[in-house]
Order: sequence, then C-alpha cells, then structure tokens
Amino acid sequence: MTDLPGVLPDILIAPSVLPADFSRLGDECASLEAAGVDRIQWDVMDGRFVPNLTFGADVIASCRDRVSVPFEAHLMIEQPDHLLASFVNAGCSIIIVHAEACLHLHRTLAAIRELGASPAVALNPHTPIDSLSHVLDLLDMVLVMTVNPGFGGQAYIPTMEPKVRATRQLLDTADHWIDLEVDGGISAATVAGAARAGANVLISGSAMFKHAGGRAAAVTELRDLARAAWAARG
Ligand code: DX5
Repeated sequence: MTDLPGVLPDILIAPSVLPADFSRLGDECASLEAAGVDRIQWDVMDGRFVPNLTFGADVIASCRDRVSVPFEAHLMIEQPDHLLASFVNAGCSIIIVHAEACLHLHRTLAAIRELGASPAVALNPHTPIDSLSHVLDLLDMVLVMTVNPGFGGQAYIPTMEPKVRATRQLLDTADHWIDLEVDGGISAATVAGAARAGANVLISGSAMFKHAGGRAAAVTELRDLARAAWAARG
C-alpha cells in the first residue's frame, strides 16, 4: 500500500461471496480469483447483530486452499472477541469488526494484530466517525457501510459519501496509510461517487455476480471507474 502523500493508493476490488452459489463455494472463489479480484470478502452474520445468518470459520477454511488471494472476514456478529482466532486460523488475513459490536474496541483491534492479522473496523450508516479517533494507530482499514448490514442487493445510500469524505480526511491524520473500504450497493453506477469521496477498496456483491459481461468484466469496469474517479479528486 502506498504511504506517500499525493501518490495514488491501490484501488482494490473485492467481491462479497454473499450472492455466490453456496453449494460450490470453492469453485466460486476460484472463478473470482480468475476474474482478477484483489481479495475476497466473507460476510459473516450471526442472526443477532444483523437479521441474517450465514457461515462460520470452518466454511471459509474449506475454501482457503482453492485460491491465493487474501481473505477478509467481515464480522457482522455480536462480541466477536472469542471468535477472532478462528477466522485468522481459517485463513483470513484481514479481520473487520463492527464498532457497534465491540464493548472494548481498542482491545479487540489490538488482539487482531496480536494474532498476526490486519485489524479493520466497520461503521454502520448511523455510526459517527468519531468512534475511530482514538484507535487510528491500531487500524489498517476502515469500512464505511453504504447500506444497513445484513443483506446483499440493497440500494446504495448516497448520503454516506460525505461520511466517506470525512473519514478519509480523518485517516489522513494518522502516521500511516489506512485503507478506506465501502460495502453495499457498489456498482458501475455508484463506484465513482464512492471513490471520489475517498474509498480505495470497493466491495461488490450483486453487481459483480450479475454483471452482463461476467465477473472479469465487472472487476475491470469497477476498477477503471474507481481509478478514474480517484485521480479526479485533485
Ligand atoms: C451487507 C453485505 C452486503 C454485501 C454486498 O451486510 O455486506 O453489503 O457485502 O452486497 P451488494 O454488493 O449486493 O450490496
């Protein structure tokens, strides 16, 4: 990742596996890697923090050896502390916890680093970015949700763009580069607005899996649009 001011950061395109065929998850991961994704996001849901239930660490572990791209675990679960090691051991190199789900966020992020993974924090649409102010030194990435978590295929919330912009400004006060990821409703129609606001990691589920040209075309289109938008930020 670049840490030189004014130098373009990596624009990373990552799919959420939420729309994938769950009966063929290993093959789906291989297909996404072949399509050129930079990494794969696993949406872990517990049915309590969000009104949906997906998969645990064992499912992710079963797909780890099928591809070489990094895995990130988006933990939409309450009190994630007791499961952090499971997801790292399953092969996730980036662990995203929700600020709203962590009673002691500073301790949780430090624990992720101690496990040898990259700590990241996600903010739901209503959550102020001030909750990041005292943990910047522990972070490698921040995820600003552009939908309310729990389901794929929701509409992008454009009023999150000022929040993305303010978050990028906050992260730029840190003494190291911190990636800014957005997740929810990212498509060819919305990716430029998110990147122009300051997001350099774009998560796409529905738009990538349903793209008329296929997954490789979706990755290329999203990456090109995001790079052009970022470069136009001035
Ligand atoms: C919400 C999920 C979705 C998913 C992306 O909890 O995190 O945002 O990753 O789904 P799409 O791209 O279909 O909005």
